[in-house]
Amino acid sequence: MSMDSSIPFALLLALLIPILLHVVIRRKYSSYNLPPGSLGFPVIGQTISLLRALHSNTDYQWCQDRIEKYGAVSKMSLFGSPTALLAGPAANHFVFSNQDLIFTETKAINALVGRSILTLSGEELKQVRGALHGYLRPEMVTKYMRKMDEEVRRHIDLNWVGHKTVTTMVKAMLSIPVNIPFTKFNKGLNASRRIRKVLRQIARDMEGALQQGYSSSADDFFTYMLVLRSKGTHSLTVEDIVDNSIVLLAAGYETSSVLITFLIRCLANEPDIFGKITDEQEEIARSKGPNEPLTWMMMKYTWKVALETLRTISPIFGSFRTAIKDIEYRGYHIPKGWQVFHAQSITHLDGKFFNDPIKFDPTRFDNQSLIPPYCFVPFGGGPSMCPGNEFARTETLVAMHYLVRQFRWKLCCKEEGYRKDPLPTPKCSDTA
Ligand code: HEM
Repeated sequence: MSMDSSIPFALLLALLIPILLHVVIRRKYSSYNLPPGSLGFPVIGQTISLLRALHSNTDYQWCQDRIEKYGAVSKMSLFGSPTALLAGPAANHFVFSNQDLIFTETKAINALVGRSILTLSGEELKQVRGALHGYLRPEMVTKYMRKMDEEVRRHIDLNWVGHKTVTTMVKAMLSIPVNIPFTKFNKGLNASRRIRKVLRQIARDMEGALQQGYSSSADDFFTYMLVLRSKGTHSLTVEDIVDNSIVLLAAGYETSSVLITFLIRCLANEPDIFGKITDEQEEIARSKGPNEPLTWMMMKYTWKVALETLRTISPIFGSFRTAIKDIEYRGYHIPKGWQVFHAQSITHLDGKFFNDPIKFDPTRFDNQSLIPPYCFVPFGGGPSMCPGNEFARTETLVAMHYLVRQFRWKLCCKEEGYRKDPLPTPKCSDTA
C-alpha cells in the first residue's frame, strides 16, 4: 500500500474503531444503563487529554467541561480501562462510603509498594488499615512532636532543601510500567529498591531487638507492627511491614511537602496574613523557653491558612478506584471491573460552595460548620480517610512556627503557575 493510499485507510480506521467499540460495549452491557459519554479511541481513550490537562493545571476545567456536557457522572476510558468520572458532594459521599469501590491496583503500584494498604483487600485490608490508623492516632502524634521539633530545627539549620528519592518513587506510581532505563517507572523502581534496603535493615534490627527483649517501646512503626502481630492482630511478614512503611513514607512525605511548599508560596503574596501568622507564632514562642520544644498546637489562625492552602491547591486532586461489583449511582450502572475516577477536590473551587472561590481567604474557616458536607475533603472521608491528617497538621504547624519567626521571603520566579506531576509542583523550583 502506498503512503498516499494508507492515509485515508488510517482515517477510516480511526473513525470506525470508536464506532465498533461503541457497538461492542452496547451489546455487552445491553441491560445496563451506562453513564453518558464516549469511551473514545481504544486503549488511549481520554488518557492523553487528561494527562495534558494535569500537566498544564487545567484539570479542573477539564472535569467541569465534562460535567457541563454530561452531568455529574459520565463515562470515558482512562489508562486502558472503561472509567466513570464522578464529582460533586454527593459523589464524594458515595465513593468514600462505598465498600465495593477499592483503590485501583496498577502494575506500577504493585511493583513499587507490594503487599500494602494500597493493594490488600478484604479482611487483610481491614487489619492493616486498623493498625496504620492506630499508629497515626492523635495521641501517638503528640508523642512525635518533640522529634518533629528537633528535625525541623535541624533541617532549617543545615539547609532548606528536600529529599529526592521518595519523590522519584511517587512520580513512578502513575507511570506506564515499562522497565527500561531512564523511564519514570525504572527510576521509581530503583528508588523503591534503595528505600526498601534501608527500611528492611531497620525492620530486621527492630525484630532482633524485640526478640531479645531490648525493645520496650512500640513508638516506632516496625516495633508497633511487630507487637501487633505477636498479639494476633494481623499476620503480615516483615517484608509486608516494610511495604506498608514505604506507603507511609510516600503518602506522608509528598502530600505534606506540597502543603508546606504552597503555604510558603501563598504567604509571599499575602503580607497581612503573614503578619497575623507571625503574631500567633511569636505569642507561642513567648510562652516557652527559647530552646524548649513545642509541646502543644494552639495555632488556630496558622491552621486556617493551611486549610485555605489545601482548598485552593489540594495535594490530592482525585483518586482511581475499581468497582468489585456492579454498582449503581444516580440511576446509572457502573459495571464490575470498571474504574471510577473520583475528582474529589473539584468541590473546593466551586462557587456554589465557596464564595469567590479563587480568592485566598482563610476566614472561610472561621466557622467550618458553614461549609456544606463533603465539599471540603482534602483528606478524603469514610474508612479510607487519610490517617495521617493529624500528623500532617502537626508537622506543618511546627515547620511554620520556625520558618515565619526566622525568615521573610519573596518569590524569585515570575511564573506563579504549577503543574500536577501527579502532585502539584511549582513550575519554577526556586520560588521560595
Ligand atoms: C497534607 C497532607 C496530606 C494530605 C492532603 C493527604 C490526603 C490523603 C487522601 C486524600 C487520602 C485518600 C483518602 C481516600 O481517597 O479515601 C489519603 C490516604 C492516606 N494517607 Fe494521607 N494525606 C496527607 C498526609 C499524610 C501523612 C502525613 C501520612 C502518614 C504519615 C498519610 C498516610 C496516608 C495513608 C496510609 C493513606 C491510605 C489510607 C487508607 O487507605 O486507609 N497521609 N491521604
